[in-house]
Amino acid sequence: MRRKIVAGNWKMNMTPSQAVALAKELIPLVESENVDVVFCVPAIDIVPVVEAVKGTKIAVGAENMYFEDKGAFTGEISAPMLVDAGVKYVILGHSERREYFKEDDVLLNKKVKKAFEAGLTPILCCGETLEQRELGVTLDFIRLQLKSDLAGVTAKQAASMVIAYEPIWAIGTGKTATSDQAEEVCGAIRKLICELYDEATAEAIRIQYGGSVNGGNAAELFAKPDIDGGLVGGASLKADFGKIVNY
Ligand code: 13P
Repeated sequence: MRRKIVAGNWKMNMTPSQAVALAKELIPLVESENVDVVFCVPAIDIVPVVEAVKGTKIAVGAENMYFEDKGAFTGEISAPMLVDAGVKYVILGHSERREYFKEDDVLLNKKVKKAFEAGLTPILCCGETLEQRELGVTLDFIRLQLKSDLAGVTAKQAASMVIAYEPIWAIGTGKTATSDQAEEVCGAIRKLICELYDEATAEAIRIQYGGSVNGGNAAELFAKPDIDGGLVGGASLKADFGKIVNY
């Protein structure tokens, strides 16, 4: 049985002092024996939030990282820096990074491999635009993304990672995919993992749905056999996140 994993993606919200206050507010609300909980926070909030969640089971994640260990890459943050700060997970390939910061699959493949090398667990995002869905190329597009991003990743590594299916049209729009739409794609992703690796890897990998998840729709989404939790944006910044974790 796969353990569910619910991760909050705080995006570019919360100054360090606000981040500590939010973490402290959420800690008692997100205690769970059955669900892994992750706060993915802005880089500048990592150190204080790691401190704030000490002694709890909550893990801290980053929202991005670079693929080089160190050097002349002004403004970037490396995997060893994240590990040293106490980070366990890193979101890679979020559609906002793909769109606004022009991250492509060649770059993301380097980042994914570096995350594993450093001992971080990637939360690798994929997902189609509304146009792609209407053209009927959703699954083709996601296959292309994941096959490219996972090139050179071993079965053992893949089994330990998290994939987040986030249809772009459902992000921040309040327009959640129906549980059947989400399950169709998450199931197809699991089949792809079986094809790229094997049955055991496909059974082990955790696949989240993301896109307007909230306390009211989490239970139906997470009841689907191939949906192992959620990557949550807006609702992760408020008490509603506790309802999602305890769906
Ligand atoms: P919302 O939950 O705000 O739609 O954001 C989803 C998301 O992008 C999580 O990574």
